Amino acid sequence: MPRTEGTYKAQRAAAEGKAPEATKGKKVREHTKMVPVPNDYIIPERDAGKVVLECRHLGIDFGGLHAVEDFNLTVGKTEIAGLIGPNGAGKTTVFNLLTKVYQPTRGTIMLDGVDTAGMSTDRVCREGIARTFQNIRLFDSLTVADNVKIGLHNQIACTMAEGIFRFPRHWISENEFQKRALELLDVFGMADNADDIAGSLPYGAQRRLEIVRALATNPKLLLLDEPAAGMNPVETEELMGNIRKIRDDFQIAILLIEHDMDLVMGICEGIAVLNFGKIIAKGTPEQIQANPQVIEAYLGKQGED
Ligand SMILES: Nc1ncnc2c1ncn2[C@@H]1O[C@H](COP(=O)(O)OP(=O)(O)OP(=O)(O)O)[C@@H](O)[C@H]1O
Ligand SMILES: [Mg+2]
Repeated sequence: MPRTEGTYKAQRAAAEGKAPEATKGKKVREHTKMVPVPNDYIIPERDAGKVVLECRHLGIDFGGLHAVEDFNLTVGKTEIAGLIGPNGAGKTTVFNLLTKVYQPTRGTIMLDGVDTAGMSTDRVCREGIARTFQNIRLFDSLTVADNVKIGLHNQIACTMAEGIFRFPRHWISENEFQKRALELLDVFGMADNADDIAGSLPYGAQRRLEIVRALATNPKLLLLDEPAAGMNPVETEELMGNIRKIRDDFQIAILLIEHDMDLVMGICEGIAVLNFGKIIAKGTPEQIQANPQVIEAYLGKQGED
């Protein structure tokens, strides 16, 4: 059944029996029908039998600290999934495991049916995992277009010698890269900024550029680490639309970490909650918001600031 999409704060107020805030004329979101998969998770029904990511018993220790422990998660091929939890819960560490910044101490990561054990960061990127970082990492002194082209280079069509000596095939690739970079920038309405210096862009635009650069690697799974951090409400609302657009246009999966609960509850279909390195709950936004353990560990503390 479709439901009216209110803000997360409005839903919480309603749950606590308080008068809801103004609804701000939000549109109605279709309920995603979620179906179970074997490892105690759910994926959208449209992705049944089509899983892009499967983590089994994943874990990593830093000295005596079990930063991530027995992490099991399945993400459907076109799912928008969320990973939430308090500061220091281990969320970014999970992304570092998925992208092989760290090799796991224990467990398995399957990407589109392929075991990624022992793969390097570059290899796993070529296999289809791209990410953005909690703190923006762009080549500040390069142009916007060049930042995107760096992402495109994992699909390079000419050899290093052809590039160094500027052989014809290099120019063909270069022209194709420019064309593709502009197409990708256009997804976020940034094609007009192509020649700007990346470091000169406003903060929100730099965050969007990071996403475009990640998309340029042609991922199957896009990991976004706090994409709305530092954004104002208008930029966040716009970002939500863009994340949906990426999923719809590129037909890829998106796993995002975010503390902005309006964004998480508004666009994620399945959500996993991490606390002290362990998943304490998985479910739909509705299930997560009603889960007493999650409210105690995280959501109950969110509104206090
Ligand atoms: N390389 C490392 N060496 C030692 N400890 C680490 C390392 N990386 C992360 N940790 C620890 O692992 C825990 C999880 O950190 P992580 O950055 O994954 O948290 P997070 O959930 O992303 O938090 P936040 O919401 O604040 O970004 C923390 O206690 C952190 O100090
Ligand atoms: Mg983090």
